[in-house]
Amino acid sequence: MLADNTDLIQPTCSNDSYAGGHFIAGQLVAAASDETFVVTNPATGREVGRAALGNARDVEKAVAAAAKARQQWAAVPVRERGAKLARGATRLLEQAEEIARLLALETGKAIRTECRPEVLTAADIGTFYAGLGSELKGETLPFRPDLLSVTIREPLGVVAAILPWNVPLVLMMLKIAPALVAGNTVVVKTAEEAPLATLMAARILAEELPAGVLNVIHGFGPECGQPLVEHPLVAKVTFTGSQPVGETIYASAARKLIPVSLELGGKSPMIVMADADLPKAVAGAIAGMRFTRQGQSCTAASRIYVHETIYEDFLTRLAAETRKLKIGDPLDETTDIGTIISQDQMERITHFIAIGRETPNVRMIVCGTAPDDANLDPALFALPTLFADIPDESPLMREEIFGPVACVVPWSDYEDVLEAANDTDFGLAASVWTNDLAKALDATRRLDAGYVQVNQNLTIQPNLSYGGFGKSGLGKEASLEAMLEHFSRKKTIVFAG
Ligand code: NAI
Ligand code: MG
Repeated sequence: MLADNTDLIQPTCSNDSYAGGHFIAGQLVAAASDETFVVTNPATGREVGRAALGNARDVEKAVAAAAKARQQWAAVPVRERGAKLARGATRLLEQAEEIARLLALETGKAIRTECRPEVLTAADIGTFYAGLGSELKGETLPFRPDLLSVTIREPLGVVAAILPWNVPLVLMMLKIAPALVAGNTVVVKTAEEAPLATLMAARILAEELPAGVLNVIHGFGPECGQPLVEHPLVAKVTFTGSQPVGETIYASAARKLIPVSLELGGKSPMIVMADADLPKAVAGAIAGMRFTRQGQSCTAASRIYVHETIYEDFLTRLAAETRKLKIGDPLDETTDIGTIISQDQMERITHFIAIGRETPNVRMIVCGTAPDDANLDPALFALPTLFADIPDESPLMREEIFGPVACVVPWSDYEDVLEAANDTDFGLAASVWTNDLAKALDATRRLDAGYVQVNQNLTIQPNLSYGGFGKSGLGKEASLEAMLEHFSRKKTIVFAG
């Protein structure tokens, strides 16, 4: 029996083990083991639904379905592949509200500030890639006049897309849209904390695709993700998540000699110069910290360096503006900030906050108030927290916290602040805040990060190549380059007359 999409958003479906089935070859199916795992609403502690608990046997089925669909899909003319994806993106928009609501239920992210915009961005990424198929061009290669030498681009085959829970729809689309347009078939492994909205969105997209082209499986990393990476028919892995898991995946892929794309987070600096537009920079810090996503972002501007002449003013304003954000029920339209995803992540955040609090001469500024609502479980509501004057060597300045914790420090010497900003293992994003064009140009050139912005802290945008340096990962996403370089291979063909 197939559950329709509406079943998935009803908490009452919690006894239906098919609610979050694997989606393989166009069918919702139970796990090979028949086991499921509970998906919890972090804002209430109640069950949202259940998902199939995948293991190597489910991986086998899903990869087999994708491998079977491969040739047929690669033979679909490229613009038709794009047109199907475009129709899928339109369907996502038509059902945006349902998807956003389910996303809010399982992630605890606020529907107005995060979940609804996320569905729109996911659809936008789909539309963007849908039009790029004709760019899968090759070249003619000057060689010998009696020969015609050309390159063509081919799909890689079966792509494994392994997702995290923080922005699962956008991250899924960043992976599957270029993969599908380039003629690959895909097996998505959802994040165990948030599999249901991803499944719903994928099923909606798949209504436009031949069976087996887009498959979705659920389960935990070692039991389900690892066998997917290791499967002999998987020709490419694209992953967003933690650095240790990224390294494990890279090592497994190396044994098979297959390409990987890895997006592994960051510790992004924001440098505010003395001449910066202060209100704009404060708003940029709040946006950059992704406080409305509880700071659960790989690009979070979590190291904020402010020139000493405006430091206290900046700090006061940042605290005041952050306090205006309402923390509460993710489904409430007036809520700005929802919950942390899970107890594990909450413990990680609490651990860092404890270190910050115990560091001598550090000021801790807690912003906002926890919701007072009997329908909510207070356990996972974290208050935005600023740590001022925190030393460079503090773990809070070096490790990804993935929570609403921002470090704010003063600086006086430009060379020193650039050095401090670059003194990190990561290199995902950075921003500079100034009206001095020469300084902005200099800083953008010298910051070691893949995505550098001036006077803004935008999130991932279609067409802006996105990907980190250093331990932030390998490869680009969101752009034409991402599709060409990471989801196709080049073949050289030489014709003799
Ligand atoms: P994680 O890296 O453990 O999980 C991400 C995905 O990888 C999930 O689908 C998981 O099932 C899968 N996975 C785990 N182990 C695997 C393995 N051995 N082989 C294949 N797949 C595997 O991330 P987690 O535990 O959710 O979060 C931990 C930390 O990771 C966060 O605190 C944050 O610092 C970072 N993170 C970074 C993200 C980013 O956007 N770059 C997103 C999510 C987390
Ligand atoms: Mg993990």
